[in-house]
Amino acid sequence: MDLSTTYLGLRLPHPLIVGSSPLSDDLDTVKALEDAGAAAIVLRSLYEEEITGEQMREFFYTEGHNESNAEAVTYTPDPDLALGLDEYLEHLQRVKQAVRIPVIASLNAVTHSGWTWCANLLEQAGANAIELQIFHAASDMATSAADVERQAVEIVRSVKQCSGIPVAVKLTPMQTAFANFASKLDGAGADGLVLFQRFHHADIDIEELEVVRTLPLSDSSELSLRLRATAALAGRIRGSLAIAGGVHTAVDVVKSTMAGASVTQLVSALLMHGAGHLRVVLADLEAWMREHEWESLGEMRGNMSLGRIPDPAAYERWHTRQYL
Ligand SMILES: Cc1cc2nc3c(=O)[nH]c(=O)nc-3n(C[C@H](O)[C@H](O)[C@H](O)COP(=O)(O)O)c2cc1C
Repeated sequence: MDLSTTYLGLRLPHPLIVGSSPLSDDLDTVKALEDAGAAAIVLRSLYEEEITGEQMREFFYTEGHNESNAEAVTYTPDPDLALGLDEYLEHLQRVKQAVRIPVIASLNAVTHSGWTWCANLLEQAGANAIELQIFHAASDMATSAADVERQAVEIVRSVKQCSGIPVAVKLTPMQTAFANFASKLDGAGADGLVLFQRFHHADIDIEELEVVRTLPLSDSSELSLRLRATAALAGRIRGSLAIAGGVHTAVDVVKSTMAGASVTQLVSALLMHGAGHLRVVLADLEAWMREHEWESLGEMRGNMSLGRIPDPAAYERWHTRQYL
């Protein structure tokens, strides 16, 4: 049975990779993930602002996450221990030395020069690829969707011009004309798109009058949005597609592959069940394929994409009776 896949030009034995998170912070955990079969690992993000101390602190304010899931506490980084640039580069080098699987660095920069400068340093430190985590809050009323998209496309073009390793873009689901934007990123040279980033939940504490951020772990219900988006892009862009968000089981991997994903990134499932969960998902995937007489993931990939199903509107159509 052939589970192999190619993502960002990297030939991988199967599509299960570890998504960007603190799972990659500890070398023993990284080795355990490789031993459990991870095909590649994405490091947590280097935040340009972290070099000055701000943004990661917000991202990792996970008080509710700690309370709601005891097992996840181990992986909740202490904001004061967040890595600066030099530490990140050293950590990347150490991870590269510790494992044989491809190591993908993740970058969230702010300034134009920050994107290219950091990308260069990550490449020099040995990253096999870079995942750009481009996020624009778009809460400024003077900034249009076109402005936001133009900036992102320029970032991708600049990073691609100055780097010799593959570049993926991790997208947010909050885009107005999603497929058009994806095709522009593809045209700017993105080697892959990761669908989608999953954010902390912001809530309002009505007693303390504070904004409270939590980062609850996902479940498979979050896959739906990603399946539809992947199905819309599969076979229509040059780069490869990754699904991140809501991948917990072998069935989720099968669905992702049928939508058109080359790889699936797991974080929540590994935080909940540990590195060994990769082995379980892989074994279940092989068992499912054997039972359903699939020889390879390649023959399944994209068979449920918009371009290949007889009724592409099936992904969008509302059925009123579902509410009855
Ligand atoms: C504790 C934690 C930390 C994360 N850190 C990052 C990060 O540094 N950069 C990033 O792009 N995504 C980060 N993510 C998002 C994950 O990479 C992933 O996109 C998201 O969790 C959805 O996948 P899942 O459903 O398997 O959890 C983080 C997620 C969690 C739970």
